[in-house]
Amino acid sequence: MYYFFLVCHSAIRWLVLGSLIYAIFTALSGLRLKKKFSPKTNAVRHWTATIAHIQLLIGMALYIQSPIVLANTNDALDSMTNPHVFFKYVHISLAVLAIVLITIGSAKAKRIQDDQAKYRTMLCWFTLALFLILIAIPWPFSPLSARPYLRSF
Ligand code: HEM
Repeated sequence: MYYFFLVCHSAIRWLVLGSLIYAIFTALSGLRLKKKFSPKTNAVRHWTATIAHIQLLIGMALYIQSPIVLANTNDALDSMTNPHVFFKYVHISLAVLAIVLITIGSAKAKRIQDDQAKYRTMLCWFTLALFLILIAIPWPFSPLSARPYLRSF
């Protein structure tokens, strides 16, 4: 089950990034062209937050099973580039903070009445979240911890 979650978590990162970037561009073009906040845009807002929440749930399932997180390596906690430290503290903190920002941004955008303010809210909160997620992801070129772009079963 652990490896199944790892493969899903790795793949869903692309959905998280894709939906977030699409939502940010939707908000940008809505602001620039003074568009109405249509039901389709509302669905983009909703699904961006939902995909992030699915990733959070899989991340939590991974966190309680991961041999890297569970490893008892008290003597090697000195560096952020240590995979144990990265996944136990850094990755989860940045990712949870990003998902909280997405949740707040989505909830605020839902409640606000003015269409332009809805777009501005989505743009600000989602952009901040994207920035944190890009740092949190263990890209193959990341100096913090390197993992593949995709895993297969
Ligand atoms: C936007 C949210 C997140 C993204 C984009 C993301 C992305 C990733 C990626 C790409 C990996 C590497 C997978 C691989 O080795 O192929 C990973 C690993 C991991 N993630 Fe996340 N993650 C997110 C949120 C979370 C959260 C919230 C948690 C914990 C609650 C979490 C826990 C983990 C753990 C424990 C691993 C390492 C598992 C292992 O190698 O044993 N992730 N994550």
